[in-house]
Amino acid sequence: MKFGYFDDKQREYVITDPKTPYPWINYLGNEDFFSLISNTAGGYTFYKDAKFRRLTRYRYNNVPTDAGGRYFYIKDGDTAWSPGWKPMKTQLDKYECRHGMNYTSIEGVKDGVSAKALFFVPLKTWAEVQKLTLTNNSNEVKKLKIFSFTEWALWNAAADMENFQRNFSTGEVEIEDSVLYHKTEYKERRNHYAYYSVNAPIQGFDTDRETFFGLYNGFHEPQVVEAGKPGMSIAHGWSPIASHYFEVELKPGEAKDYVFVLGYVENKDEEKWESKNIINKTKAKETIAKFNTVEKVDTALAELRMYWDNLLSIYRVDSGEEKLDRMVNIWNQYQCMITFCFSRSASYFESGIGRGMGFRDSNQDLIGFVHQIPERARERIIDIASTQFPDGGCYHQYQPLTKKGNNDIGGGFNDDPMWLILGTTSYIKETGDFSILDEMVPFDNDMSIARTLFDHLSVSFDHVINNLGPHGLPLIGRADWNDCLNLNCFSNDPNESYQTTENQSKGSKAESLMIAGLFVVYGNDFIKLCKRVGNKAEAKRCQKHVDEMVAAVKKHGWDGEWFLRAYDYFGNKIGSNENEEGKIFIESNGWCSMAGIGKEEGLIEKALDSVKERLDCEHGIVLNNPAFTKYYIEYGEISSYPPGYKENAGIFCHNNPWIMIGETVIGRGDEAWEYFKKICPSYLEDVSELHRTEPYVYSQMIAGKDAFKPGEAKNSWLTGTASWNFYTITQYILGIQPDYDGLKIEPCIPKDWKGFNVTRKFRGATYKIKVINENAVCKGVSKVIIDGKEHSSNILPIFADGNTHTVEIVM
Ligand code: BGC
Repeated sequence: MKFGYFDDKQREYVITDPKTPYPWINYLGNEDFFSLISNTAGGYTFYKDAKFRRLTRYRYNNVPTDAGGRYFYIKDGDTAWSPGWKPMKTQLDKYECRHGMNYTSIEGVKDGVSAKALFFVPLKTWAEVQKLTLTNNSNEVKKLKIFSFTEWALWNAAADMENFQRNFSTGEVEIEDSVLYHKTEYKERRNHYAYYSVNAPIQGFDTDRETFFGLYNGFHEPQVVEAGKPGMSIAHGWSPIASHYFEVELKPGEAKDYVFVLGYVENKDEEKWESKNIINKTKAKETIAKFNTVEKVDTALAELRMYWDNLLSIYRVDSGEEKLDRMVNIWNQYQCMITFCFSRSASYFESGIGRGMGFRDSNQDLIGFVHQIPERARERIIDIASTQFPDGGCYHQYQPLTKKGNNDIGGGFNDDPMWLILGTTSYIKETGDFSILDEMVPFDNDMSIARTLFDHLSVSFDHVINNLGPHGLPLIGRADWNDCLNLNCFSNDPNESYQTTENQSKGSKAESLMIAGLFVVYGNDFIKLCKRVGNKAEAKRCQKHVDEMVAAVKKHGWDGEWFLRAYDYFGNKIGSNENEEGKIFIESNGWCSMAGIGKEEGLIEKALDSVKERLDCEHGIVLNNPAFTKYYIEYGEISSYPPGYKENAGIFCHNNPWIMIGETVIGRGDEAWEYFKKICPSYLEDVSELHRTEPYVYSQMIAGKDAFKPGEAKNSWLTGTASWNFYTITQYILGIQPDYDGLKIEPCIPKDWKGFNVTRKFRGATYKIKVINENAVCKGVSKVIIDGKEHSSNILPIFADGNTHTVEIVM
């Protein structure tokens, strides 16, 4: 069952039923100022950091779900309704929500009146702009009363939900003309405030929540709306809100537009005040003036759309598969921008309080984003590397506002360092900008011990080899990519966190085959980079370690039919046929296959066949099998989940592409493609009632075959699945790979594909690539023709001439 449809021309998903199986959301803003918005206008707003600069309040885990947002209440006679159906939930005559690239428009129609609300954050603007268009399509004059609504958060989203003995006394507001200002804590340590304006005279307002709703009423029954008149309340403590009130008269056929601006301002200390206790509103007024007419708003939206035209013109496929094309050309790239912006911090499954930017997460996010805005990727790489320690280890997360490592989470995740190599080499391959390697980058944000980024990569590599276990395999530390395989934790206290509690790493024999594979892949990548920059000595030194790791994996990491997952604290095997549960895991088989370990001996083929036999199911590839059915204290969180969920045999979509890439290593394009389709959201649109999360973005997890409800997804949007799937489909299946000296073409596709076309902008030229597969093969390029001339290799040269070049690839 579907709840809407894709409008690819507009690059929108159109939701036609407000009761989606879960709130289907979108993100506004892509630089400093952000909003989350659901299909019924729920969500919240923040500046840079969802924890430290929360502007508007949101209640996770509420009843009903998705409570709180930016709402309009329309009172027409005795009927009150909201354009997004919620919060009033009055039955609408028509409802339509269009989620587009960083904008959302929601239209409701009731009794001949249409209310269409457009929401977006204009480029380079610290505000969410809302355009409300009211149209009278009836034959009578309509007299409408309009109430806007948003609820302020008291800045620090964690304290906002905890410290009520203080919070209920701090709230302060100011009102001037049609602008409602929120200035809590401005007079002490804060240099910022927020505001909500409308570009028309108002007949009233409310800034106190209790006056607006009534103490015992929900969002769907504000007492001022019911009474049809505002409370004119001025908040003193308790819960400040912002609500405008105005009256509109519309003749038959008449339409009127109103522009609301919900913004954020920072002032220098000496510029904070206009007069005693009156805030300096200059900057707010400047922003409001920029969007005080419909024309200005429309121009800003056009600019935003153009911005996305440009971003999405860098990689375009025309495969003849509509569902594939819309993911590659629109939604998957869009999701990669979103994961780049937020890492795993703020979604409808991430509270914005718990997690900042992940070291491993953000590096991986880059592989789906770097082609879009390489300059921002560059800055991100430096930020991430700045939180590394001199020994190559790193903070697992950092806060976006301060860019400092997060002490609460700490470090010790032994896969983290290797991802920096992936992030950096991806950037250089895309841009050819080797100068990034010479940047002086601090350790632990301390510039006095800065070294070059190249040195950071070197210590990343060394961190693995300085932490090897008894089999010469990498020690796992707190965990590797699988945060829930906690082999040194031994937790029997439900009050401690598996990941941050004191680990018993001393004397531990816990080794990870996933890190081993990862090390071979990015160790080789680093060696290639060393050679490319002429550092032969480093290349040679590293080669020795990579060779040793390959040998160690073959000797101690092969279980007979697949790669082992790990050794536990005591040196016992995990992911072996000898185990009763958790005999086989996806991660090590993915990474050792990607690394090509034992390819000649047929190990990869065997491993991937085992994956197919034991881990694959109708909805994707589960993480491990058989699922754990009891708690293993020596394995940690992984065995805490019921079978089929999350890391315990869920389909953890992030790692499915590792198997797809593994399949391409041995040329099995049909298998790679089948796996791709199983978890690709556009292919799941028809089963939305089962899948539940948005059909336009990837989710972190789909319940696996052992679950109560296989196929049900959770944790949409902020997941490495976005970048890994984009990377896999574009670089390994369609096979267009940026490389240091050109664009390498190496597709691995289903045999029955006749071919496809890709337009790729790369280093200052446009490549129009036509792949022809008349020989019905999966892999292997037999002929390359560039601008009519045969070319001897499958690496397309760097033209950098601003021109378009036609390329024909015969497979
Ligand atoms: C985390 C990743 C982790 C994955 C698997 C995600 O929620 O963000 O860092 O690799 O889970 O445990």
